[in-house]
Formats: sequence, structure tokens, C-alpha cells
Amino acid sequence: MTTTCFIRPYHPADRPAIRRICIATSWMGRPDDKHIPDDWLWAEYWTRYFTDREPQHTWIVQRCNDNEIVGYLTGIADVRRFGRFVPFLLPGIILRVIRKRLMRRQAFRTALMAFLRSFARGELELPPRVEKEYPATFHFNLLPDARRQGLGQRLFQTFRARMQSLGVPGIHAETLSSNRHVAAFLRNADFRLLDVRPINTFAHVEPEPMEMFTWVMSLQGNSVGTNVAAPKGQANTAATAPCNRSVENRIPIKPSQERLRCHQNPIK
Ligand SMILES: CC(C)(COP(=O)(O)OP(=O)(O)OC[C@H]1O[C@@H](n2cnc3c(N)ncnc32)[C@H](O)[C@@H]1OP(=O)(O)O)[C@@H](O)C(=O)NCCC(=O)NCCS
Repeated sequence: MTTTCFIRPYHPADRPAIRRICIATSWMGRPDDKHIPDDWLWAEYWTRYFTDREPQHTWIVQRCNDNEIVGYLTGIADVRRFGRFVPFLLPGIILRVIRKRLMRRQAFRTALMAFLRSFARGELELPPRVEKEYPATFHFNLLPDARRQGLGQRLFQTFRARMQSLGVPGIHAETLSSNRHVAAFLRNADFRLLDVRPINTFAHVEPEPMEMFTWVMSLQGNSVGTNVAAPKGQANTAATAPCNRSVENRIPIKPSQERLRCHQNPIK
């Protein structure tokens, strides 16, 4: 079924919806308490920085008929900022662990130990060069009904155009080898696979060996607009900005222009 939606900038009132969708899509696009032992911790880690510290790089997908939020993209212009923010997450995380008595749960203890082992082995570290040459990164999630309609591409184009307008040299993305549809998306969007390394964070619940893929895209040498390609096989008429005139698609998108009203130019 095709859903008619529009993409708009993030508003603080969207925060709970983003966290809900983050949990609903936590493992390969589905909720999963086998891999994710605590939903709140997952949402806190993956969304808090983006909604609270860099909200200007978050966009929302909203359904036209009932205004339901069905997806989002959270982005960061320099991933090193996230690294510096992580210590600020720790008090809330520790409080959650104590309040919910998570250490009493075997599944939580096993997951925590696996995470710490991966961390100590450097499995979660970005390959050298990536932070400097491709500092921007993003996370995007759509609820199942909103997938495969070009919304992911439009979210990503909006983010990429913003990064280009800021002069960011490149974007990277990290995916688990089992997340094949995201790999297909990134290939389709012209990302290049830079690095593959084994990762054991989920070895206690995943029988198959897993790898972490690092994908990169350079933004250097591309002027804003010309790199904002329309999805394959479509004219660039339903771009995120509320315009269908090609000349307007060549200028950097201003926040005020990003709102795509349903009656103006819906994404179907
Ligand atoms: C990943 C995600 C955001 C992609 O958004 P989307 O709107 O579904 O993707 P699009 O419709 O824009 O697809 C663009 C291209 O990506 C590729 N692609 C996307 N989903 C695919 C899938 N399930 N299988 C194969 N290719 C796929 C195709 O090449 C597609 O082009 P095409 O439709 O012309 O063939 C969305 O599928 C999603 O939210 N998935 C679940 C959560 C998730 O895994 N998030 C990523 C965490 S890193």
C-alpha cells in the first residue's frame, strides 16, 4: 500500500515519536527484545544526542491523512561530537540500570558483557580516516508501511544537501552485515564500502558470525544541488523542498523551505 507523506524539520514535540520508532525498528527494522534487552536504553543512546543537541539535522516523515509520524532521519555533521556527548548519557543510563534492577536480569548482564568486550577489542571503533574525511553520519528508520516508497531516499537527499551546504567533506554509515536492505539502500545511493570487520556484540544471540560494514560518500567536488539526484527513474519534482521548478532545486535548502505540504507536493 502506498502512503502519502511529507517530510518536515524536527520539532521538540516529535521527540517521543522518534523514540517510539527507534524502538519499533530496533533490530533489522523490527522490535526485538532478544537483541535489545532494554528499550529505553536503546532509544536514549541512539536518539538523545540528535534530538537534544543537534536537532537541526533531524527530519520527520509525517503521514498526510492522520498526521501520524511514520519515520525520521537523525543526522550529525561531525561524529566526534557524539563521542564527546556519550559521557553525558552515563548518569541517566546508570540510574535506569539501578531503578529497573537490570543487573538482576541474566539477558541484560550477558548483553552488557558482550558490549563491553566488543568495546575493549576496538570492534566499535571507526576505521582510521573516517572521522576526518567522512565526519557526518545519520540514522534513519521508517515504520514498515512507509518503506519502499522512496521516502528513505528523500530523507537522505535532504540530509546530504544540508551537509553539502555546510561544507562537510563526507558522510559515513555503519551497518551490520545482516542488515541487507540497508546495504542495498546505501549502494543504490552511491556509498562505497570502505571497511569490513568482525563484530561480536551480538554473538550470544546470533548463531552466524557478524561483520560491521563502514560505508562512505565523499561530498567534495560536488556542488550543492547537482549531487541531490532524484531517485532512479524519477524526475526531481517531488524533492523535499516545496518546489517543482528545477532552478529552485539547485539552491541550498533553507529550513523554511523544507516543509512539504500534502496539498502542494505529496510524496506518494
Ligand atoms: C532503510 C530504510 C530507511 C530505507 O528507506 P526506504 O524508504 O524503504 O527506501 P527507498 O524506498 O527510498 O529505497 C531506495 C533504494 O534502496 C534500495 N532498497 C531499499 N529497501 C530495500 C530492500 N528492502 N531490499 C532491497 N533494496 C532496498 C533499493 O535500491 C531502493 O530503490 P528502488 O526502490 O528503486 O529499488 C527503511 O527501509 C527502513 O526504515 N528500514 C528499517 C529500519 C532500518 O533498518 N534502518 C536503518 C538502520 S541503519
